[in-house]
Amino acid sequence: MAFVTRQFVRSMSSSSSASASAKKILVKHVTVIGGGLMGAGIAQVAAATGHTVVLVDQTEDILEKSRKGIEESLRKVAKKKFAENPKGADEFVAKTLSSISTSTDAASVVHSTDLVVEAIVENLQMKNELFKRLDKFATEHTIFASNTSSLQITSLANSTTRQD
Ligand SMILES: NC(=O)c1ccc[n+]([C@@H]2O[C@H](COP(=O)([O-])OP(=O)(O)OC[C@H]3O[C@@H](n4cnc5c(N)ncnc54)[C@H](O)[C@@H]3O)[C@@H](O)[C@H]2O)c1
Repeated sequence: MAFVTRQFVRSMSSSSSASASAKKILVKHVTVIGGGLMGAGIAQVAAATGHTVVLVDQTEDILEKSRKGIEESLRKVAKKKFAENPKGADEFVAKTLSSISTSTDAASVVHSTDLVVEAIVENLQMKNELFKRLDKFATEHTIFASNTSSLQITSLANSTTRQD
């Protein structure tokens, strides 16, 4: 995904004037749904590359575990990246962690996000229910993305009003 290495600008055609005015959207705020192995990793990389991230999962306990995992992983990255500069390493870890907040209520956070990355369990019905619900709360410009390993993106897109 583009956002993992740098902030990116998305060109989006508005439905009313598709060819005329392509809007440029800078992705600054990312919501990651699912704080398991993949979601925690996506949240970590998005935060480390300058994005503000909200990580969402079902319980505070799971989110606490995700946060600890992210911190451990960041410390390993920092140790290599700032091998000669322990203070820089600490600052990198602290700054990245401070860009990640958590929530158990996806609907209440997606209204202000540019990109939603779904990384919940690999179940079409659950992913569809999630996207259908978030579709009502996210703004028109919000991009929906899935980390699915085997499901068809079109079957997920069909649960939303966003076909782009
Ligand atoms: N693990 C891998 O190597 C791998 C690789 C590529 C793609 N994927 C895909 O990434 C996705 C996530 O995989 P994973 O290994 O991180 O799974 P995981 O089981 O480690 O994590 C899934 C998380 O989603 C949470 N969750 C479930 N339903 C939710 C909901 N409605 N709202 C919020 N949170 C919810 C669970 O509590 C859990 O913490 C799957 O679609 C999987 O197929 C996984």
